[in-house]
Amino acid sequence: MSNSAAYVEGAVDYSTKIPNNVGLASDARVLKALEQWHPGYIDWWMTMGPDGFQTSEVYLRTAVSIDPKGWAQFGYVKMPEYRWGVLLAPQDEKRQVNFGASKGEKAWQEVPGEHRANLRRLIVIQGDTEPASVEQQRHLGKTAPSLYDMRNLFQINVEEGRHLWAMVYLLHKYFGKDGREEAEGLLQRRSGDADKPRMLGAFNESTPDWLSLFMFTFFTDRDGKMQLESLAQSGFDPMSRTCRFMLTEEAHHMFVGETGVGRTIERTCQAMNSTGVEDPYDIERVRALGVLDLPTIQKKANLHYSLSLDLFGSEVSTNAANYYNAGLKGRFMETKIEDDHVLTRATYPVLKLVEGAAKFVDEPALSAINMRLRDDYTKDCQGGVSRWNKIIEKAGVKFEMKLPSVAFHRGVGEFSNVYATPDGTIIGKEEWETGRDAWLPSTDDGGFIESLMKPCWTKGKYADWIAPPRVGIDNKPGDFEYVRIHQA
Ligand SMILES: [Fe+2]
Ligand SMILES: [Fe+2]
Repeated sequence: MSNSAAYVEGAVDYSTKIPNNVGLASDARVLKALEQWHPGYIDWWMTMGPDGFQTSEVYLRTAVSIDPKGWAQFGYVKMPEYRWGVLLAPQDEKRQVNFGASKGEKAWQEVPGEHRANLRRLIVIQGDTEPASVEQQRHLGKTAPSLYDMRNLFQINVEEGRHLWAMVYLLHKYFGKDGREEAEGLLQRRSGDADKPRMLGAFNESTPDWLSLFMFTFFTDRDGKMQLESLAQSGFDPMSRTCRFMLTEEAHHMFVGETGVGRTIERTCQAMNSTGVEDPYDIERVRALGVLDLPTIQKKANLHYSLSLDLFGSEVSTNAANYYNAGLKGRFMETKIEDDHVLTRATYPVLKLVEGAAKFVDEPALSAINMRLRDDYTKDCQGGVSRWNKIIEKAGVKFEMKLPSVAFHRGVGEFSNVYATPDGTIIGKEEWETGRDAWLPSTDDGGFIESLMKPCWTKGKYADWIAPPRVGIDNKPGDFEYVRIHQA
């Protein structure tokens, strides 16, 4: 990378060990703290990052500026040499606190004392998810259905690593000693570990196969997007700026999820059409074609959607109300919403369990912040599901993918203590036990999916269960070598 990059507006300074656009070179205290944290991070990456590919050369994008249109530079990089850095969206001098009790104040450049503990908690919770997903996905390179897909996986992994850096920067810069301790903790916890698990449920589940990866990046990275969107509204300006830049990276993760599931569906429909299999529920015949039957894809969606809904927390939440009232965490598209942005008198309809059935109940809007964000998330998910259905429809197959009810298979909130079918009917335990394997992936389903996960690492080739993408990354041709594999 040329040195001249440092003189471009919004450009990233690559002259220090830690690429950044926050003037680290003249902030000795924070630079030193980050440099001390760096070896632990690399150690974590080498032991918990992508297994078996640390010496391979991967065609990755690296941020060289924060200009949303031109920040990416593509080139072959060995992942441990990726330039992880600290990148914030530009500061807007006129920005204000846009919601809550302090609405109208100038946005905070330092942490307000009374909000310190809450803000640190929000940063740590977000930060903890970033390395967690890298840990969950670390074995998937070995079964990649193509070099294109392998490259996308690794791109997501290095960017989740950078998101960890983003949160650690905030901790080091604004939270002194306890910030440094929290930053250490982020490297100590492990996804799925019985003694020191990651903080949130979905980030302790395993991601055993590529369909799981695509579902995870579609549903769970999209929860991440919603969380980042609401943190990007924060009155604490450095938080807002760092989340805004993270969102530009996050878009690719959801692209990988949506197109990954879409290409899986496309291939299934193609195989059915070319062999004259018409009934999508004739699972044995569809599977005999070496592709994933649509009902199993639906079950995977049911699982990942319900686990991701849990990440939004309880529908009615005092914490969420406090975060909002304090100006720390807003709503999706906060500044575009037409209301008073204080919400002390407003209400919001919350789906609750009333006398054994799901019913909407008006709750104070402040307490229903989580519910509202979750509703926005559901709408966002529905968009992708509708695009999957277009693929099925175009192929002339009679099947429709559906998001299950929010009451289905929940571990958190209103419906965590009841059993419900995907269409939201509350049922008894026995009925749940009988229906479970029709609604969620069974051991058999898992075994079948696993049997398809044979690596396909030939340039331009794709495993039989997935269709090739429409266009390459960085407009590369179909037979481009996205990963030069050197296995250590
Ligand atoms: Fe992330
Ligand atoms: Fe992500």
